[in-house]
Amino acid sequence: MNIATISDLRAPAKRRLPGFVFDYLDGGAGTEVGMQRNTAAFDDIRLKPRMLVNIEERDLSTTLFGRRWSLPFGTAPVGFCNLMCPGAEEAIARAAVAAGIPCTLSTAGTTSIENYIRFAPQNAWFQLYVSRFDNITHDIVDRADRAGYETLVVTVDIPLAARRPRDLRNNFSVALKVSPKFVWELVSHPYWSFTTLFAGVPKFETMQRYMDATGTKQVAGFVSSQVSGSFDWDALKRLRDGWKRRFVVKGLLAAEDAVRARDLGCDGVVISNHGGRQLDSLPAPIEVISEIRAAVGEKFPLILDSGIRSGEHIAKALAAGADFCLIGRAVMYAVSALGRRGAKIAIDLLADELSRTLAQIGHTNIASLKTAAPILRAR
Ligand SMILES: Cc1cc2nc3c(=O)[nH]c(=O)nc-3n(C[C@H](O)[C@H](O)[C@H](O)COP(=O)(O)O)c2cc1C
Repeated sequence: MNIATISDLRAPAKRRLPGFVFDYLDGGAGTEVGMQRNTAAFDDIRLKPRMLVNIEERDLSTTLFGRRWSLPFGTAPVGFCNLMCPGAEEAIARAAVAAGIPCTLSTAGTTSIENYIRFAPQNAWFQLYVSRFDNITHDIVDRADRAGYETLVVTVDIPLAARRPRDLRNNFSVALKVSPKFVWELVSHPYWSFTTLFAGVPKFETMQRYMDATGTKQVAGFVSSQVSGSFDWDALKRLRDGWKRRFVVKGLLAAEDAVRARDLGCDGVVISNHGGRQLDSLPAPIEVISEIRAAVGEKFPLILDSGIRSGEHIAKALAAGADFCLIGRAVMYAVSALGRRGAKIAIDLLADELSRTLAQIGHTNIASLKTAAPILRAR
């Protein structure tokens, strides 16, 4: 299979995964128009090309949180990651290390906090979902601290569990219950079924001990049952003050909130709508990043995700005001379609596209792209 674009990976991912797994990965909230807008809004932007620039030597590296990364993007946290491909989390982490970029483990990941950092000791970030039970949150943060994570990413855009119609129709929260439809999905996707059953059905390795303590059996429903609707700015401040190293908030879209996070002592913010998985009517991050940049000032680190499917999209995010990007489904389609080797293929493809985009518009490095902000038209 020749992979020319990230979009080339979605169809084979769909063929390889059982329907309920593909829908979990690919689906969004509501009618999914918000999810589609995330990518469409990137496509609506034009870049201003400058010619007659010597672009033979190009440097994609950039500095974030006092560290030089080889590329201006990292991988986003993805819950239930190894459901898409056994060993996906490890493969993504190792590919990230090889590429010199950060990778993020989700609280709802399928590798434990303690094991994940062994794959990427210098590059691993940990993403926290705040539990409705304080003792669970404290224990998880404590484990991340003891394991040595440099960066804690606190996701705040799930005040309550979302309605994702595809998951609801598939009864995904109890997907592992055996039903005739479930058995048919396994039989009709033998590669996935064989590799997944052979590797062992993935578990929420970080959360497992709390599930055992509460006697919870339904893995997919557990994380949403943990969501804390009472988590607020005061609680965020307490978390910030309790974490000694880099502290990032993920899931803001309003300039006022980004300013407040900065003033509260956060080291950076991820401008994200969770890949369109929470609500249809949220703005695409690329639509609001310039306004947020203007509000927080030049120096405050802004990371952007949601809808990125190409290196051109990354270039647009940076030109519009982001310092860095996170990649969600693009890498996940790759590991779903190609197995573990897909992680490197997706990262390399995005890097190559980004490098070519820079060349086409007459830039040789990320700083020049950000300073020139060569955006011709945003919706
Ligand atoms: C299947 C799936 C699971 C996700 N799980 C998490 C998670 O556990 N924690 C989190 O902060 N974000 C999670 N996200 C959101 C991603 O971190 C990221 O914000 C989003 O995927 C970006 O959009 P994109 O997929 O269009 O690139 C998940 C996204 C997907 C697609």
